[in-house]
Amino acid sequence: MDTLFSGMQPTGSMHVGNYLGAIESWVDLQERYRCVYCIVDYHALTGQVEAGAMQPTILEMATWLLACGIDPAKSLLFVQSDVPEHTELGWILSTVTPMGELSRMTQFKEKSKQAELASFVNTGLYTYPILQAADIMLYKAKWVPVGEDQRQHLELTREITRKFNARYGDTFPECQPLIKDDKRARVLGLDGEAKMSKSLDNHLAFTHTADEIKHRVTRTMVSDTQRARLADPGRPEVCNVFTFHGFFSGTEQRADIEAKCRTAQIGCFHCKSALAENVNARLGPIRERAEVLRKRPDDVRDVLRDCGLQVRALAQVTMDEVRSRVGLR
Ligand code: TRP
Repeated sequence: MDTLFSGMQPTGSMHVGNYLGAIESWVDLQERYRCVYCIVDYHALTGQVEAGAMQPTILEMATWLLACGIDPAKSLLFVQSDVPEHTELGWILSTVTPMGELSRMTQFKEKSKQAELASFVNTGLYTYPILQAADIMLYKAKWVPVGEDQRQHLELTREITRKFNARYGDTFPECQPLIKDDKRARVLGLDGEAKMSKSLDNHLAFTHTADEIKHRVTRTMVSDTQRARLADPGRPEVCNVFTFHGFFSGTEQRADIEAKCRTAQIGCFHCKSALAENVNARLGPIRERAEVLRKRPDDVRDVLRDCGLQVRALAQVTMDEVRSRVGLR
């Protein structure tokens, strides 16, 4: 089986956007690849995280990932800073990375603008993509599932790989991004405009109760804005509610809703109620499993620690090779 790597910044407030955009496919991919999944806490330091919040956040996130179906019997789930080799390889890769390439990164431009307003632009934001390249290359991963917004970082990883191999001999494979070709690549929030996020409060959180989900979907989710009255035919192709039916509802129900919306046989409330039910049907079992795990935080910590040890052994094999290639002891 090929090795696949992906990473996610620790966040305690996971939502349906994270689920559809990443976690759902992380779970499926476990059947076909040797998956290495990383909670990237070194990367998180480039943002404004409070020191005391990091560990609870990591534990919370790991709990949700396991509850969603990341299975330590199939894949490795670990915390980046348990494997300091990431930073060592990052340093070595920085010496084959052109500054011009880093300056072109859209994510850097956006985040540095925000950071400048808040205080100052830390260098970690600038070299962030090098650490990301190190994450992937440390395990010689071939496949990297990410969202559309990470395409540019992966192109840079491929370039860093080529530069390293050209200078020191063929060592790393060029990785390939796995990017969804449907709307899961960029899940919109309840407003139907911006990407789903907690800070915009346009999200459906894992921690919302079934009633809260129902309320948010039926009362706040924006549908086809041109459909003013029940008697007007709807346009599912421009309706975010219908897009969500694509994520959560079966094909038959979806076809039925589409036909009845177009012919004004059902209104938006009906369509949203059906969606809320299906979202709850999917989130319910995840919430229950998280509830069980939350009572056993040491079990979650054990998974992270065990996986971290296994992963570190792999990382050390690569680093031995890298050190000898570049001429370090
Ligand atoms: N930068 C990624 C994000 O913000 C997270 C990440 C860090 C990552 N290292 C990675 C993703 C390695 C894929 C592979 O989503």
